[in-house]
Amino acid sequence: MAYRHFEFIEKHAWALGIFTAIMVSLGGLAEITPLFVEALQVKPPENVKPYDPLRLAGRDIYVREGCYLCHSQMIRALRFETQRYGPFSTAEESVYDRPFLWGSKRTGPDLARVGGKYSDDWQRRHLIDPRSLVPETNMPAYPWLETGRIDGNDIAARMRVLRKLGDRYTDAEIAAAPEAVKDKTELDALVAYLQGLGIANEPQAAAAAAATDTGKPQ
Ligand code: HEC
Repeated sequence: MAYRHFEFIEKHAWALGIFTAIMVSLGGLAEITPLFVEALQVKPPENVKPYDPLRLAGRDIYVREGCYLCHSQMIRALRFETQRYGPFSTAEESVYDRPFLWGSKRTGPDLARVGGKYSDDWQRRHLIDPRSLVPETNMPAYPWLETGRIDGNDIAARMRVLRKLGDRYTDAEIAAAPEAVKDKTELDALVAYLQGLGIANEPQAAAAAAATDTGKPQ
């Protein structure tokens, strides 16, 4: 009986197509649905804070300049990645990233934990003229960041919108934002953003990595 059913499916391409689509959809749902439920339960840990005004401005510049087209911010739980870049990325670290900047293209190295790897000075020189520090790099130069200015009211408005989306900014923090970015250049903001990457959350990520790292290659 069951055999006759299979024979029918095998002899009719349309039936095979339809049943394959149904099975693939069920498999997909079984994989994807738990991820959605899990995503809703991700809560920001205490030491992961919303971006301060300068870093928030820097993050916008990172997006505007398309840095994510060459740099990912997602260290996968694979030994050769954690050895090169540090503890793997966790969902909690990205709760304040709208949109997230995980990326998938790595023309340059992953930047998820680049904060503190170089001095501010190195970062500034590298952005203004990458080839003065790494002669063989194909990273473009961004000299205009040095003169670009930050609009403090714009940043305060962004913080108000982010608060509506759940970021825990206080009235005082928002009111202080224009002062915090006053006289800062776009370069200052971008460097502040880069220097914070992977810093706030590092201890937690390290603990998570230690808990799951069995020492075996994955
Ligand atoms: C065309 C691809 C490309 C783009 C676009 C690009 N980069 Fe890079 N980046 C690279 C490459 C390649 C390297 C490695 C060589 C070097 O250090 O210059 C690199 C290195 C870096 C490093 C040092 C990372 C490390 O761990 O050594 C930082 C920080 C960085 N880029 C930031 C940025 C920022 C910020 C932007 C946007 C303003 C940007 N990059 C845009 C290709 C790119």
